[in-house]
Amino acid sequence: MRAAITLVSLPRPALIDLGVAMPHDPVPALLSRATELLEAEFAVLPAFESAADLGAMERVLTDTAHRLGDNYPYFHPLYAGQMLKPPHPVARAAYALAMKVNPNNHSRDGGRVSSEMEIEAVDEIARMFGWAESAGSYLGHLTSNGTIANLEALWVAGQLTPGKRIVGSEQAHFTHHRISAVLRLEFTSVAADGSGRMSLETLETELGRGDVGTVVVTLGTTAIGAVDRLDEVLKLRDRYGFRVHVDAAYGGYFKLIAEQLDEGARRAFAATVEADSLVIDPHKHGLQPYGCGCVLFRDPAVGRLYKHDSPYTYFTSKELHLGEISLECSRAGAAAVALWATQQLLPLTPGGEFARGLATGRAAALDLYQRLRADGGGETLAAGAPELDIVVWRLKASDSEQASELAQKIFAACAARDLHLALVQLPLFWFEAGKTAQDGPVKCLRSVLMKPEHAAWMDRIWERYSAAYDEVVGGA
Ligand SMILES: Cc1ncc(COP(=O)(O)O)c(C=O)c1O
Repeated sequence: MRAAITLVSLPRPALIDLGVAMPHDPVPALLSRATELLEAEFAVLPAFESAADLGAMERVLTDTAHRLGDNYPYFHPLYAGQMLKPPHPVARAAYALAMKVNPNNHSRDGGRVSSEMEIEAVDEIARMFGWAESAGSYLGHLTSNGTIANLEALWVAGQLTPGKRIVGSEQAHFTHHRISAVLRLEFTSVAADGSGRMSLETLETELGRGDVGTVVVTLGTTAIGAVDRLDEVLKLRDRYGFRVHVDAAYGGYFKLIAEQLDEGARRAFAATVEADSLVIDPHKHGLQPYGCGCVLFRDPAVGRLYKHDSPYTYFTSKELHLGEISLECSRAGAAAVALWATQQLLPLTPGGEFARGLATGRAAALDLYQRLRADGGGETLAAGAPELDIVVWRLKASDSEQASELAQKIFAACAARDLHLALVQLPLFWFEAGKTAQDGPVKCLRSVLMKPEHAAWMDRIWERYSAAYDEVVGGA
């Protein structure tokens, strides 16, 4: 793997010149000043020396930096593959600063102020969905990731609707199936329609059987960013009675720019206020380092299901300890500190800077979609433009096998030009009239355009893609 940065002091094998350096990193300077301030906070304590060996640490870090160069350049606009977005510098700085204290948000005993920061940060997320009208009007906390956040939501759902099934789209993240197995809950997949959304017709057939306890609704599917019709599912809830769990791990922040989305997605995001539980991942679109998911419950009374005694903690404060409403015990308080700091800098407000960043990434996706449509070598979804910021396309070929082979080859030819895309298997009928779900999948190219910088880089992305395409198709 070739990296974009040259660490002058380190001998390295040949590096490719991407035409830009890694942007100047403000974190060391930010951190240096903030570290002094944090140290001053504890100045009343008697000083003590750390036994750490500086020289040895420097040597280890030299090796570490070298090894980390063997990575895809996730931070760079030419990385346009999987769902990977660089954390904001303020998040990295706040996380690293918090490491001086290394709080554990299991309890206030382990993370006093970071627990408060978590409560405040989660409250801002809840407000984004219209959930925090008054104090105590919902329950929520951060988790290690979207999987654990969804696990908690289904764990609660299973206890509130014992013996009933969980139902979700076949395009819901695979984690729901696995989590349900872990929780020993029966999970049924519902077919997706040609837009990648859960088929409401098939869902209603399942509901008619009378044993569905919870429906998982995905706002922003992992494969293509499709937005299930939450508003329509809620109408079915009125008729059949079930819990609605919204997995907005990927798409949740698009609530801030819902007005710019198509009518269906707009209505779905407007309906989030009525969900029973909701998951959003700050470590996806929320500019956070990994280790930051979030689960919200509309009814704060579900807190009773978490009730347990701890002989070790919960002594330092009568306030709620987050471990009392979380399945995980130890959790990184630093994740809460980083999220809180990021939201101070970039509040979750429609029209704000954070929202504009999302809109710019989406504009890049629409730009790529239009170029693909005009070009003719690839075929976009028959359903039309991407709902969020994920673009997928099938290569034109005489059959699916050849199209899949072309996708694989172009993927590699792009990577050789330092343009990193992703691959995804999608049903053929999403592209071709007359095909059905039985006609099997085709391997496609996929680009998740999460970075605002993607918009300004689209000419260069397209140039590299076109060169890779010409090389593969010209030589096919
Ligand atoms: C819609 C959705 N739900 C859940 C998950 C799982 O989240 P995590 O990888 O943070 O565990 C993902 C991950 O991509 C996702 O896209």
